[in-house]
Amino acid sequence: YGLPGMAIRVAARRGDLIARITADEALRENPFDAYDELRARGPVVSNRLLSATASHRTASEILRGDKFVASAGGGATGLLDRVLTAAVDPRALGPVDPPSLLVVQPPQHTRIRKLVSRTFTPRAVNRLTGRMREVADDLLDRIPEGEPFDLVEAFAAPLPVMVIAEILGVPTTMRDQFLRWGNEAAATLDPGLGWRAFWRADSALRGLNSWFEGHLAHLRHAPGEDLLSKLVHDVENGDRLSDTELRATGLLLLGAGFETTVNLIGNAVRLLLDHPGQLAALRADPSGWANAVEEVLRYDSPVQVTLRVASQDLQLAGLPLPEGRPVVTMLGGANRDPEVFAEPHTFDVTRPNAREHLAFSAGIHYCLGAQLARLEASIALQALFERFDGLALAGSPTRRGTRVLRGYTELPVRATTKS
Ligand code: HEM
Repeated sequence: YGLPGMAIRVAARRGDLIARITADEALRENPFDAYDELRARGPVVSNRLLSATASHRTASEILRGDKFVASAGGGATGLLDRVLTAAVDPRALGPVDPPSLLVVQPPQHTRIRKLVSRTFTPRAVNRLTGRMREVADDLLDRIPEGEPFDLVEAFAAPLPVMVIAEILGVPTTMRDQFLRWGNEAAATLDPGLGWRAFWRADSALRGLNSWFEGHLAHLRHAPGEDLLSKLVHDVENGDRLSDTELRATGLLLLGAGFETTVNLIGNAVRLLLDHPGQLAALRADPSGWANAVEEVLRYDSPVQVTLRVASQDLQLAGLPLPEGRPVVTMLGGANRDPEVFAEPHTFDVTRPNAREHLAFSAGIHYCLGAQLARLEASIALQALFERFDGLALAGSPTRRGTRVLRGYTELPVRATTKS
């Protein structure tokens, strides 16, 4: 992610802990012991290339303070920013102008964020509750009773694409194409991308980008009621998004809309199937679903890692860091910090302070889609578990190949009783 991938892979092979956490495929299934090991070494741990933290307190200080900046051209921070960077100019090696919200600095960040949040309000999101349920029910209608199916392919992946596509006003018929582009582009989030994956991602990004440009051109002539049309035409105090800002923002919303919530839904289903007692309690009292979603976000965070860079020489947790030093903030590790969460490795949907997780980051880059993701996951899970009394694993789930995003590519299940 903007860090020298090869150097990290070599360091990982030599056993360097930070490098292993960021690049070692063996930790894909379980990175949590390594986060504990890192935290035990101190709130901030450094090697030759970078520093890292898995401490909740230190991670919050980094994200909420103003001494660190999200790095332009870096992807992990940038969650989808590598994607966007490349989407704006696939050959761009350095920062592009303008990069997405995820990596721009104030005052530009403040300005763009304000324009977007004016249309993407919690009220606007809450209005979608009924529609989300309809989309979820439609997908569930197609699932055959008694036969094994892949929960990711049939439900967890298409639902967020359909929802974000409707919000943005992009055609839902493009669903499968978006998913293909998204999967190929997501490979760019991890360090040490091989050439083959690079070319695949590059071609996916070109496809997505050029399609999106055409779509925006169409909205200029024939605006609808959707969020993108509003962003194209809205002017506030004489200010509006420039063409490139619009493209970067629209692609960020689209990509963030379907590359993350799929993981939240998939991770939740797996965890609940593994904890039948907790699932039964939620079925009996659905008012617990919102907190259950928070606990999944904490325990199995869909975005595990983000990156910041020291904007000046500074002290962090009492240690000096030079200007320009990258610090990997292990969100998934901060969310297992015993200083904040009692018995952090226990999954408990009734945990009173689950919401203190950093799964949506914190500070100025706090996830703009947090409300949408929470609501969507809670609706999806309720719809699924109401529909199927008996849902059980029907094979071994496969984790996604990425370290930044944590989810499943395949979650085989069987629905025994359809109500
Ligand atoms: C930013 C996580 C869903 C839109 C972020 C960041 C994280 C995150 C960790 C900040 C990264 C950093 O600080 O470097 C998640 C998770 C999601 C989710 C875990 C689902 C479970 C969504 C959805 C949307 C969205 C559904 C929109 C439709 C955004 C945007 C930003 C962002 C626009 C950039 C905000 C800024 O930089 O000001 N998200 N996200 N996210 N997310 Fe999400």
